[in-house]
Amino acid sequence: MKAVWYERFGPAAEVLTLGDMPDPAPGPGEVLVRVRASGVNPSDVKLRAGARPGAKMPFPRIVPHSDGAGEIVALGKGVSRELGERVWIWNGQWQRAQGTCAELIAVPSEQAVRLPDGTGFEEGACLGIPAMTAWYALHADGPIAGRTVLVAGGAGTVGRYACQMAALSGARVITTVSSAQKAAHSGAKDWINYREANVTEAVMDLTGGQGVDRIVDVDFGANQAADLALVKSGGTIASYASASDMAPTLQFYPFMFKNVTLKMLIVYLLDAEVRRRGEAQLTEWLQAGKLSHAVVPGGGLADAAAAHGRVAAGDKLGTVVLSF
Ligand SMILES: NC(=O)c1ccc[n+]([C@@H]2O[C@H](COP(=O)([O-])OP(=O)(O)OC[C@H]3O[C@@H](n4cnc5c(N)ncnc54)[C@H](OP(=O)(O)O)[C@@H]3O)[C@@H](O)[C@H]2O)c1
Repeated sequence: MKAVWYERFGPAAEVLTLGDMPDPAPGPGEVLVRVRASGVNPSDVKLRAGARPGAKMPFPRIVPHSDGAGEIVALGKGVSRELGERVWIWNGQWQRAQGTCAELIAVPSEQAVRLPDGTGFEEGACLGIPAMTAWYALHADGPIAGRTVLVAGGAGTVGRYACQMAALSGARVITTVSSAQKAAHSGAKDWINYREANVTEAVMDLTGGQGVDRIVDVDFGANQAADLALVKSGGTIASYASASDMAPTLQFYPFMFKNVTLKMLIVYLLDAEVRRRGEAQLTEWLQAGKLSHAVVPGGGLADAAAAHGRVAAGDKLGTVVLSF
Protein backbone atom coordinates (compact mmCIF):
# COMPACT_ATOMS: atom_id res chain seq x y z
CA MET A 1 0.00 0.00 0.00
CA LYS A 2 0.97 3.66 -0.34
CA ALA A 3 1.54 5.26 3.04
CA VAL A 4 3.10 8.33 4.63
CA TRP A 5 5.39 7.75 7.62
CA TYR A 6 8.10 9.26 9.78
CA GLU A 7 10.99 7.57 11.54
CA ARG A 8 12.12 10.53 13.63
CA PHE A 9 10.49 13.66 14.97
CA GLY A 10 11.10 16.85 13.02
CA PRO A 11 9.71 19.37 10.54
CA ALA A 12 6.98 17.86 8.36
CA ALA A 13 8.76 18.50 5.06
CA GLU A 14 11.90 16.76 6.35
CA VAL A 15 10.48 13.71 8.08
CA LEU A 16 7.21 12.80 6.33
CA THR A 17 7.94 10.22 3.65
CA LEU A 18 5.56 8.84 1.03
CA GLY A 19 6.31 5.32 -0.09
CA ASP A 20 5.22 1.69 -0.25
CA MET A 21 4.66 -0.44 2.81
CA PRO A 22 3.39 -4.01 3.18
CA ASP A 23 -0.40 -4.20 3.43
CA PRO A 24 -1.52 -4.69 7.04
CA ALA A 25 -3.57 -7.81 7.80
CA PRO A 26 -6.50 -7.64 10.19
CA GLY A 27 -5.83 -9.58 13.40
CA PRO A 28 -8.50 -11.29 15.50
CA GLY A 29 -11.29 -8.81 16.28
CA GLU A 30 -10.01 -6.32 13.69
CA VAL A 31 -11.27 -4.97 10.40
CA LEU A 32 -9.14 -3.85 7.47
CA VAL A 33 -10.27 -0.49 6.11
CA ARG A 34 -9.44 1.00 2.71
CA VAL A 35 -8.93 4.57 3.87
CA ARG A 36 -10.44 7.25 1.62
CA ALA A 37 -9.94 10.32 3.81
CA SER A 38 -7.50 11.12 6.61
CA GLY A 39 -8.11 14.03 8.99
CA VAL A 40 -5.14 16.00 10.30
CA ASN A 41 -5.50 17.22 13.89
CA PRO A 42 -3.18 19.41 15.97
CA SER A 43 -2.25 16.37 18.09
CA ASP A 44 -0.98 14.52 14.97
CA VAL A 45 1.14 17.54 14.11
CA LYS A 46 2.50 17.99 17.63
CA LEU A 47 3.33 14.28 17.89
CA ARG A 48 5.22 14.32 14.57
CA ALA A 49 7.09 17.44 15.61
CA GLY A 50 8.13 15.78 18.89
CA ALA A 51 6.50 18.63 20.76
CA ARG A 52 5.22 16.55 23.67
CA PRO A 53 7.33 16.97 26.82
CA GLY A 54 9.88 14.16 27.04
CA ALA A 55 8.72 12.73 23.72
CA LYS A 56 10.47 9.61 22.43
CA MET A 57 9.53 7.75 19.24
CA PRO A 58 7.20 5.03 20.58
CA PHE A 59 7.67 2.95 17.42
CA PRO A 60 10.54 2.91 14.90
CA ARG A 61 8.15 4.01 12.13
CA ILE A 62 4.87 5.89 12.58
CA VAL A 63 2.11 6.32 10.01
CA PRO A 64 0.39 9.44 11.41
CA HIS A 65 -3.24 10.51 11.94
CA SER A 66 -5.91 9.24 14.27
CA ASP A 67 -8.98 10.18 12.27
CA GLY A 68 -10.13 8.81 8.96
CA ALA A 69 -12.91 7.22 6.99
CA GLY A 70 -13.19 4.53 4.35
CA GLU A 71 -14.64 1.10 3.58
CA ILE A 72 -14.17 -2.25 5.27
CA VAL A 73 -12.36 -4.56 2.85
CA ALA A 74 -11.41 -7.56 5.03
CA LEU A 75 -12.33 -9.05 8.39
CA GLY A 76 -10.18 -10.57 11.11
CA LYS A 77 -11.13 -13.74 12.98
CA GLY A 78 -14.34 -13.45 14.98
CA VAL A 79 -15.61 -10.27 13.29
CA SER A 80 -18.99 -10.21 11.58
CA ARG A 81 -19.26 -6.94 9.69
CA GLU A 82 -20.32 -6.23 6.14
CA LEU A 83 -17.56 -6.01 3.52
CA GLY A 84 -17.91 -2.63 1.82
CA GLU A 85 -19.42 -1.01 4.94
CA ARG A 86 -18.55 2.69 5.06
CA VAL A 87 -16.94 3.60 8.38
CA TRP A 88 -15.23 6.39 10.30
CA ILE A 89 -12.23 5.62 12.44
CA TRP A 90 -11.25 6.82 15.92
CA ASN A 91 -7.89 6.50 17.72
CA GLY A 92 -6.31 5.23 14.48
CA GLN A 93 -2.84 6.14 15.64
CA TRP A 94 -3.39 6.40 19.39
CA GLN A 95 -0.69 4.21 20.98
CA ARG A 96 -0.38 2.39 17.66
CA ALA A 97 2.25 2.56 14.95
CA GLN A 98 -0.08 2.77 11.97
CA GLY A 99 -2.64 5.55 11.61
CA THR A 100 -4.90 6.63 8.79
CA CYS A 101 -2.36 8.36 6.52
CA ALA A 102 -2.18 5.23 4.37
CA GLU A 103 -4.35 3.40 1.90
CA LEU A 104 -5.09 0.67 4.44
CA ILE A 105 -5.43 0.44 8.20
CA ALA A 106 -6.27 -2.52 10.42
CA VAL A 107 -8.14 -1.47 13.59
CA PRO A 108 -10.21 -3.18 16.27
CA SER A 109 -13.73 -3.50 14.87
CA GLU A 110 -15.23 -1.07 17.42
CA GLN A 111 -12.85 1.67 16.20
CA ALA A 112 -14.53 1.59 12.79
CA VAL A 113 -18.00 3.06 13.27
CA ARG A 114 -20.65 2.85 10.55
CA LEU A 115 -20.78 6.09 8.56
CA PRO A 116 -24.38 7.00 7.76
CA ASP A 117 -25.41 7.30 4.12
CA GLY A 118 -25.28 10.93 3.15
CA THR A 119 -22.13 11.63 5.18
CA GLY A 120 -19.04 11.71 2.96
CA PHE A 121 -15.65 10.24 3.77
CA GLU A 122 -14.13 13.71 4.22
CA GLU A 123 -16.78 14.58 6.79
CA GLY A 124 -16.33 11.19 8.42
CA ALA A 125 -12.64 12.04 8.87
CA CYS A 126 -13.66 14.95 11.15
CA LEU A 127 -15.60 12.87 13.66
CA GLY A 128 -13.02 10.94 15.71
CA ILE A 129 -11.37 13.93 17.38
CA PRO A 130 -13.18 17.22 16.62
CA ALA A 131 -16.80 16.03 16.83
CA MET A 132 -16.33 13.50 19.61
CA THR A 133 -14.34 15.94 21.75
CA ALA A 134 -17.13 18.50 21.38
CA TRP A 135 -19.82 15.97 22.28
CA TYR A 136 -17.90 14.73 25.31
CA ALA A 137 -17.02 18.19 26.60
CA LEU A 138 -20.69 19.15 26.45
CA HIS A 139 -22.27 15.95 27.74
CA ALA A 140 -19.79 14.28 30.07
CA ASP A 141 -21.46 15.87 33.08
CA GLY A 142 -25.16 15.43 32.41
CA PRO A 143 -27.80 16.96 30.14
CA ILE A 144 -27.56 20.55 28.98
CA ALA A 145 -31.09 21.22 27.71
CA GLY A 146 -32.22 24.60 28.99
CA ARG A 147 -28.72 25.48 30.22
CA THR A 148 -26.38 28.19 29.03
CA VAL A 149 -23.06 27.03 27.56
CA LEU A 150 -20.02 29.18 26.83
CA VAL A 151 -17.85 27.73 24.06
CA ALA A 152 -14.41 29.34 23.97
CA GLY A 153 -13.04 29.41 20.43
CA GLY A 154 -16.22 28.63 18.48
CA ALA A 155 -14.43 28.77 15.12
CA GLY A 156 -12.03 25.94 15.98
CA THR A 157 -12.66 22.41 14.74
CA VAL A 158 -13.89 21.32 18.16
CA GLY A 159 -15.48 24.67 19.03
CA ARG A 160 -17.63 24.79 15.90
CA TYR A 161 -19.04 21.33 16.57
CA ALA A 162 -19.54 22.30 20.22
CA CYS A 163 -21.59 25.36 19.21
CA GLN A 164 -23.79 23.24 16.95
CA MET A 165 -24.18 20.35 19.37
CA ALA A 166 -24.99 22.60 22.31
CA ALA A 167 -27.79 24.20 20.28
CA LEU A 168 -29.00 20.78 19.04
CA SER A 169 -29.08 19.65 22.68
CA GLY A 170 -31.35 22.51 23.67
CA ALA A 171 -28.80 24.79 25.31
CA ARG A 172 -28.27 28.49 24.78
CA VAL A 173 -24.82 29.02 23.24
CA ILE A 174 -22.44 31.92 23.67
CA THR A 175 -19.05 31.71 22.00
CA THR A 176 -15.78 33.62 21.86
CA VAL A 177 -13.94 34.21 18.58
CA SER A 178 -11.36 36.62 17.22
CA SER A 179 -13.27 38.12 14.26
CA ALA A 180 -16.72 38.54 12.72
CA GLN A 181 -15.72 36.06 10.01
CA LYS A 182 -14.95 33.46 12.67
CA ALA A 183 -18.21 34.27 14.43
CA ALA A 184 -20.08 33.49 11.21
CA HIS A 185 -18.07 30.27 10.87
CA SER A 186 -19.04 29.23 14.41
CA GLY A 187 -22.72 29.62 13.59
CA ALA A 188 -23.46 30.94 17.10
CA LYS A 189 -25.80 33.91 17.38
CA ASP A 190 -24.25 35.26 20.58
CA TRP A 191 -20.53 35.85 20.23
CA ILE A 192 -17.79 37.99 21.71
CA ASN A 193 -14.49 38.97 20.17
CA TYR A 194 -12.22 37.76 22.97
CA ARG A 195 -9.28 39.81 21.71
CA GLU A 196 -11.17 43.09 21.80
CA ALA A 197 -13.87 42.84 24.46
CA ASN A 198 -13.87 42.04 28.15
CA VAL A 199 -15.31 38.52 27.92
CA THR A 200 -16.45 38.39 31.54
CA GLU A 201 -18.41 41.64 31.28
CA ALA A 202 -19.86 40.75 27.90
CA VAL A 203 -21.06 37.29 28.99
CA MET A 204 -22.50 38.72 32.19
CA ASP A 205 -24.38 41.28 30.07
CA LEU A 206 -25.71 38.55 27.79
CA THR A 207 -26.86 36.42 30.73
CA GLY A 208 -28.39 39.16 32.87
CA GLY A 209 -25.56 38.76 35.38
CA GLN A 210 -26.25 35.02 35.84
CA GLY A 211 -23.15 33.55 34.19
CA VAL A 212 -23.16 30.15 32.50
CA ASP A 213 -23.78 26.54 33.50
CA ARG A 214 -21.09 24.94 31.42
CA ILE A 215 -17.90 26.09 29.72
CA VAL A 216 -16.13 24.24 26.92
CA ASP A 217 -12.65 25.66 26.88
CA VAL A 218 -9.89 25.50 24.28
CA ASP A 219 -7.31 27.32 26.43
CA PHE A 220 -7.81 26.83 30.15
CA GLY A 221 -4.60 28.65 31.07
CA ALA A 222 -5.60 31.79 29.20
CA ASN A 223 -9.24 31.72 30.27
CA GLN A 224 -9.15 30.43 33.84
CA ALA A 225 -9.93 33.77 35.48
CA ALA A 226 -12.85 34.50 33.15
CA ASP A 227 -14.14 30.93 33.49
CA LEU A 228 -14.06 31.22 37.26
CA ALA A 229 -15.94 34.49 37.17
CA LEU A 230 -18.52 33.21 34.69
CA VAL A 231 -19.30 29.67 35.79
CA LYS A 232 -22.36 29.39 38.02
CA SER A 233 -22.16 27.56 41.34
CA GLY A 234 -22.30 23.83 40.63
CA GLY A 235 -21.28 24.37 36.99
CA THR A 236 -18.73 22.52 34.92
CA ILE A 237 -15.68 23.66 32.99
CA ALA A 238 -14.64 21.06 30.42
CA SER A 239 -11.30 21.97 28.97
CA TYR A 240 -9.54 20.11 26.18
CA ALA A 241 -6.39 22.23 25.80
CA SER A 242 -4.23 24.82 27.51
CA ALA A 243 -1.69 25.68 24.85
CA SER A 244 -0.77 29.13 26.14
CA ASP A 245 0.19 27.80 29.57
CA MET A 246 0.65 24.05 29.92
CA ALA A 247 0.89 24.19 33.73
CA PRO A 248 -1.38 27.02 34.89
CA THR A 249 -1.65 27.75 38.60
CA LEU A 250 -5.06 26.54 39.71
CA GLN A 251 -7.31 28.83 41.78
CA PHE A 252 -8.32 25.94 44.02
CA TYR A 253 -10.38 27.66 46.73
CA PRO A 254 -12.25 30.04 44.43
CA PHE A 255 -13.31 27.03 42.34
CA MET A 256 -14.09 25.02 45.47
CA PHE A 257 -16.31 27.73 46.91
CA LYS A 258 -18.36 27.63 43.71
CA ASN A 259 -18.60 23.83 43.81
CA VAL A 260 -17.25 23.71 40.27
CA THR A 261 -16.43 20.54 38.36
CA LEU A 262 -13.20 20.91 36.42
CA LYS A 263 -12.94 18.36 33.66
CA MET A 264 -9.58 18.18 31.88
CA LEU A 265 -10.47 15.80 29.12
CA ILE A 266 -8.74 13.79 26.46
CA VAL A 267 -10.87 12.23 23.76
CA TYR A 268 -8.51 9.29 23.25
CA LEU A 269 -9.47 7.88 26.65
CA LEU A 270 -13.27 7.78 26.69
CA ASP A 271 -14.63 4.71 28.39
CA ALA A 272 -16.57 2.29 26.24
CA GLU A 273 -20.04 3.17 27.55
CA VAL A 274 -19.56 6.92 27.15
CA ARG A 275 -18.09 6.44 23.70
CA ARG A 276 -21.04 4.31 22.60
CA ARG A 277 -23.43 7.04 23.80
CA GLY A 278 -21.47 9.65 21.88
CA GLU A 279 -21.37 7.54 18.74
CA ALA A 280 -25.11 6.90 18.94
CA GLN A 281 -25.80 10.62 19.27
CA LEU A 282 -23.47 11.54 16.41
CA THR A 283 -25.08 8.87 14.23
CA GLU A 284 -28.56 10.22 14.99
CA TRP A 285 -27.54 13.79 14.12
CA LEU A 286 -25.72 12.66 10.97
CA GLN A 287 -28.67 10.58 9.77
CA ALA A 288 -30.93 13.58 10.30
CA GLY A 289 -28.48 15.82 8.40
CA LYS A 290 -28.19 18.11 11.42
CA LEU A 291 -24.43 18.56 11.63
CA SER A 292 -22.50 20.89 9.38
CA HIS A 293 -18.85 19.97 8.83
CA ALA A 294 -15.99 22.29 7.99
CA VAL A 295 -13.65 20.36 5.71
CA VAL A 296 -10.52 22.04 4.39
CA PRO A 297 -9.37 19.99 1.37
CA GLY A 298 -5.73 19.10 1.96
CA GLY A 299 -4.92 17.24 -1.27
CA GLY A 300 -3.74 13.63 -1.37
CA LEU A 301 -1.13 11.52 0.42
CA ALA A 302 1.66 13.43 -1.35
CA ASP A 303 0.41 16.64 0.29
CA ALA A 304 0.70 15.40 3.88
CA ALA A 305 3.58 17.73 4.78
CA ALA A 306 1.75 20.78 3.46
CA ALA A 307 -1.36 19.69 5.35
CA HIS A 308 0.65 19.48 8.59
CA GLY A 309 1.94 22.97 7.85
CA ARG A 310 -1.57 24.32 7.51
CA VAL A 311 -2.67 22.80 10.81
CA ALA A 312 0.44 24.09 12.58
CA ALA A 313 -0.15 27.59 11.20
CA GLY A 314 -3.61 27.51 12.77
CA ASP A 315 -5.11 29.90 10.21
CA LYS A 316 -7.41 27.41 8.46
CA LEU A 317 -11.11 27.28 9.22
CA GLY A 318 -11.99 23.63 9.66
CA THR A 319 -10.31 20.25 9.59
CA VAL A 320 -7.62 19.70 6.97
CA VAL A 321 -8.45 16.39 5.28
CA LEU A 322 -6.39 14.37 2.79
CA SER A 323 -8.41 12.36 0.25
CA PHE A 324 -7.10 9.36 -1.68
N1 LIG B 1 -7.89 17.01 24.82
C1 LIG B 1 -8.42 16.56 23.69
O1 LIG B 1 -9.00 15.47 23.63
C2 LIG B 1 -8.34 17.42 22.47
C3 LIG B 1 -9.19 17.17 21.40
C4 LIG B 1 -9.13 18.01 20.29
C5 LIG B 1 -8.21 19.06 20.26
N2 LIG B 1 -7.38 19.22 21.31
C6 LIG B 1 -6.43 20.35 21.33
O2 LIG B 1 -7.22 21.53 21.31
C7 LIG B 1 -6.53 22.55 20.62
C8 LIG B 1 -7.44 23.12 19.54
O3 LIG B 1 -7.71 22.12 18.59
P1 LIG B 1 -8.61 22.46 17.32
O4 LIG B 1 -8.52 21.32 16.38
O5 LIG B 1 -9.95 22.91 17.74
O6 LIG B 1 -7.76 23.67 16.72
P2 LIG B 1 -8.18 24.85 15.73
O7 LIG B 1 -9.17 24.38 14.72
O8 LIG B 1 -6.91 25.45 15.27
O9 LIG B 1 -8.96 25.86 16.66
C9 LIG B 1 -8.42 26.49 17.76
C10 LIG B 1 -9.35 27.64 18.08
O10 LIG B 1 -9.07 28.11 19.37
C11 LIG B 1 -9.25 29.51 19.36
N3 LIG B 1 -8.55 30.08 20.51
C12 LIG B 1 -7.23 30.04 20.79
N4 LIG B 1 -7.00 30.65 21.97
C13 LIG B 1 -8.19 31.06 22.44
C14 LIG B 1 -8.61 31.74 23.61
N5 LIG B 1 -7.73 32.13 24.55
N6 LIG B 1 -9.92 31.99 23.78
C15 LIG B 1 -10.81 31.61 22.85
N7 LIG B 1 -10.49 30.96 21.72
C16 LIG B 1 -9.18 30.68 21.51
C17 LIG B 1 -8.70 29.93 18.03
O11 LIG B 1 -9.27 31.14 17.69
P3 LIG B 1 -8.41 32.34 17.01
O12 LIG B 1 -7.47 31.68 16.02
O13 LIG B 1 -9.44 33.15 16.39
O14 LIG B 1 -7.69 32.97 18.12
C18 LIG B 1 -9.19 28.81 17.11
O15 LIG B 1 -10.45 29.11 16.55
C19 LIG B 1 -5.25 21.92 20.11
O16 LIG B 1 -4.22 22.20 21.04
C20 LIG B 1 -5.55 20.44 20.12
O17 LIG B 1 -4.41 19.65 20.25
C21 LIG B 1 -7.42 18.45 22.42
